[in-house]
Amino acid sequence: MNIDVLLGLQWGDEGKGKIVDVLTPRYDIIARFQGGPNAGHTIIFEGKKFVLHTIPSGIFSDKAKNIVGNGVILDPFIMQKELENLDSYDIPARENLFISRKAHLITPSHRLLDATYEKAKGKDKIGSTLKGIGPAYTDKIARLGLRTGDLHEGGFRGRYDELRDKHLRIVRAHGYKAEDFKFDGLSFFDYEEAWFKALKIFDELQLVNSEYLINKALDEGKKVLAEGAQGSMLDIDFGTYPFVTSSNTICAGVCSGLGVPPQKVGEVFGVFKAYCTRVGSGPFPSELLDENGNLMRETGHEFGSTTGRPRRCGWLDLVALNYSIMLNGVTQLFMMKTDVLSPFSELDVCMAYEIDGKKTDEVPYDMTAGDINPVYTSLKGWNQQIDKLQSMDLAPATLNSYIQYIEKETGIPIKIVSVGPDRKQTLFR
Ligand code: GDP
Ligand code: IMO
Ligand code: MG
Repeated sequence: MNIDVLLGLQWGDEGKGKIVDVLTPRYDIIARFQGGPNAGHTIIFEGKKFVLHTIPSGIFSDKAKNIVGNGVILDPFIMQKELENLDSYDIPARENLFISRKAHLITPSHRLLDATYEKAKGKDKIGSTLKGIGPAYTDKIARLGLRTGDLHEGGFRGRYDELRDKHLRIVRAHGYKAEDFKFDGLSFFDYEEAWFKALKIFDELQLVNSEYLINKALDEGKKVLAEGAQGSMLDIDFGTYPFVTSSNTICAGVCSGLGVPPQKVGEVFGVFKAYCTRVGSGPFPSELLDENGNLMRETGHEFGSTTGRPRRCGWLDLVALNYSIMLNGVTQLFMMKTDVLSPFSELDVCMAYEIDGKKTDEVPYDMTAGDINPVYTSLKGWNQQIDKLQSMDLAPATLNSYIQYIEKETGIPIKIVSVGPDRKQTLFR
């Protein structure tokens, strides 16, 4: 059996969590392969709303196994809160959750470093979620990191202290001290204490060699879905560097983040919003800084699931979308938040960029240099409510034209159209 992959094609928050939850009944295993609690994946059903940061979005099924793969970085303090929230709804998360022993830990001083680097950057800050993502991946690559599997080995506390002291020296070298920052309302040292207490979650969770678990499941014919976090335009290699996250968010990340060989990758589901959003700093060619952008933000409730920050909004960018489709080998597109475009009678779609007077349909090497002017094509909007639409057979002709236009320009079929945040507001084509 092959592993299917679902990932975001824009700057994150495309609606990945919602669709993973919708597709989970078709799978035996849902596995996160990269990122950490910088992710915020929202799932809404039966009037309840959940935001998951580390736990895969298949956790609401009582049948599917959920795996946090080796490519993920994990903060036990944040994961404990996620588990406690699921407990309060009687969702049996623990028995269906498996954590790779090779997944690295985000320590309190990784968060401290993240805050330090951002503060030191001033107006050039990345707009990080301040969850310690960059510093934790840095230590992984520098071969200094602590893995969940190390918790049961001797010498954990000594290695932890050594790493923390090194981080504190870096903080001081930047002219700051630990007391300058707060973490979820706690001082650094109180946060550290809470973090150590949270390590007890690993007494209840199953630490596994997830590469064996997944490959054996595939060999036995089980169905596995890999759940991406962030989006391709935030990929460490191909995103709008340096305004990116610190992992490979693209499909290639599945192989290294779960230990699955490339020939076992099956369908690649590319999730995109019918428009674009971005949270944090960095280039965004089709951004709308006018009342249209405000209307999208209000209609789409575009405020970060992890940080609550307002998301920047703009028209659909087909240059970026086609780039992401190329990088990931997308086989099916899922279009999200289609209902949010209902108030608009005209829809612009960015078809090319004009850079220094030259038109291009390629994402340039450095998107941060100079002005990138979007070249738009205008399409008719459907300009009517569609959030109660029950079938695509009843969709307005203008919506079908928008879909067909995107399919023509990308060469990939749009198989799902999402018209609202609830599980049920999902239309298949
Ligand atoms: P993710 O990070 O890709 O899982 O996406 P987020 O959960 O961060 O952001 C998507 C937001 O849009 C969440 O608040 C969802 O509840 C909401 N959402 C998802 N699909 C739709 C949709 O089709 N229409 C509307 N209006 N909201 C949606
Ligand atoms: P999901 O999985 C949207 C953005 C941050 C910042 C940059 C780097 O919910 O789609 P980091 O904390 O990773 O060092 O931040 O990446 N970012 C996201 N934006 N959705 C996300 O995840 C994101 N994860 C990180 O806003 O600009
Ligand atoms: Mg999100």
